[in-house]
Amino acid sequence: MFPTSSTQNRHIPVMLMESLENLKIKKNGIYVDGTLGLGGHSEIILQHIDSGLLIGIDRDKDSISLSKKRLSSNNNFKLFNDSYQNLNIILEELNIQAVDGILLDLGLSSYQLEDNMRGFSHKYESSLDMRFDKNSADNTAEDIIQRNELEELTRIFKEYGEERHAYKIAKKIKDLKGEISVMSITSIVDKVTPYKYRLKTYSRIFQALRIAANNELDHLSRFLDDFINLLNPGGRIVIISYHSVEDRIVKHKLKELKHKKEIELIYKKPLVPSKEEVSINKRSRSAKMRVGEKIG
Ligand SMILES: C[S@@+](CC[C@H](N)C(=O)[O-])C[C@H]1O[C@@H](n2cnc3c(N)ncnc32)[C@H](O)[C@@H]1O
Repeated sequence: MFPTSSTQNRHIPVMLMESLENLKIKKNGIYVDGTLGLGGHSEIILQHIDSGLLIGIDRDKDSISLSKKRLSSNNNFKLFNDSYQNLNIILEELNIQAVDGILLDLGLSSYQLEDNMRGFSHKYESSLDMRFDKNSADNTAEDIIQRNELEELTRIFKEYGEERHAYKIAKKIKDLKGEISVMSITSIVDKVTPYKYRLKTYSRIFQALRIAANNELDHLSRFLDDFINLLNPGGRIVIISYHSVEDRIVKHKLKELKHKKEIELIYKKPLVPSKEEVSINKRSRSAKMRVGEKIG
């Protein structure tokens, strides 16, 4: 699917106002949107800086070109087709030592989910690609299935998807011969799961394959090991995650930094979207926001 400006309407930014408030935007500050997506959060950040700068990063080239159009009424931004885990290299390139705030809105955008050629959704038959960066040498989701033994595939479904029938599903998938597509997976889930649980099971299995194909947890962990050195004192880190595996990693790392007295945690418990937001945007229902401020 070729990206068009109408696809921008498909992703509603999650916890937008909470993100803005918690970044504590200064008009002349430098902010990073590490998961630019369709630029929903970046657009509002840009409206609140004048002599400052916004740095937007996304692994997905289509997201970069769509956001560029969306943000183009303003000049105060630079976009990078890269992973947020390389923020240190990007800042070096820009000759910037540290920034005033970093936002990560993890996972995938509705635009990617609705792209019927990329295999992110159980709804559209296609090859099982699922790479955020279509031009990279990363494994596709199909490679993850073909190249891993049953034991490892079971672990992926169990740990990244929290799927109870991980072994059963992995076994049937490994028994398949030839090319494995979206429908190969959904038909196996249909065989082992009662009808009323199918949608949830599809989501868990597709989520697990996507996380594995994109090495998402490694990117997140490497970023969390490093980001504190890239923040100015008083600078904020705001992370929105959508499943417990990611949230647990964020929680532990931020707690560790708190114990080392490097950050202040702004909330003890994660912030969640309002009932109103969830009723308008179902995708926001699993969101959890954690916020830290670097101690100066
Ligand atoms: C939930 S969407 C962000 C949506 C965005 N906040 C908006 O409102 O339009 C997540 C985006 O992060 C990107 N992404 C995932 N992992 C990434 C990584 N390690 N580095 C950079 N971008 C990444 C995905 O390609 C996707 O576009």
